Amino acid sequence: MVIEQIKVGLDNFSYVIYCPKQMKAAIFDPGYDAPKALEFISSKDLDLKYIIITHYHSDHSSDCQRIKECLPSSKIVASESDGAKLGIAVDITVSDGDRLKLGNIELDFLLTPGHTPGGICIIVNNEALLTGDTLFIGDCGRTDLPGGNLSQMFQTLQEKIIPLPDHLLVYPGHNYGSKPYDRLGNQKRSNKTLLAKNINEFSKIP
Ligand SMILES: [Fe+2]
Repeated sequence: MVIEQIKVGLDNFSYVIYCPKQMKAAIFDPGYDAPKALEFISSKDLDLKYIIITHYHSDHSSDCQRIKECLPSSKIVASESDGAKLGIAVDITVSDGDRLKLGNIELDFLLTPGHTPGGICIIVNNEALLTGDTLFIGDCGRTDLPGGNLSQMFQTLQEKIIPLPDHLLVYPGHNYGSKPYDRLGNQKRSNKTLLAKNINEFSKIP
């Protein structure tokens, strides 16, 4: 499995992940600068299977249609509720616990509401965790935007993220931290939003 982390917009990350044996690829969160991802896909002669949207915000999804038009056999993947807000047709709607195959790579989907009602995180081959705007390096996503919910975010972090294995590499949707990615185990020990013991403590984090 190869993960290409691509800086787009001001501080967003898009990702291209591919299986080097079968050359099948997925792009995650094509918010801006779609040509960067398209050039990478073309330079490696990859077959783009999926365009995966962690949540509907435009900085994660606005170039989705453009990529689909360039590579029309690719399938747009999103959760039901966030997919409905994209303004384009979703080809594959994913729910909590769903799995898709990308060549030899397994993509496991977690529904992680809090930043948006239908935000998702994706475990890639039990090696990486793409977190969109649910978890950043050192922080979590905002809950004060429309659809955001502080108690849902706390529940997501406690019940969906913390139980995951420490070895996973967290790849966030923004370059907000001291490093572009990190082991989940390190984040469990250092990320203030994962260290909060209860909702009261969580709600007081600046
Ligand atoms: Fe967002």
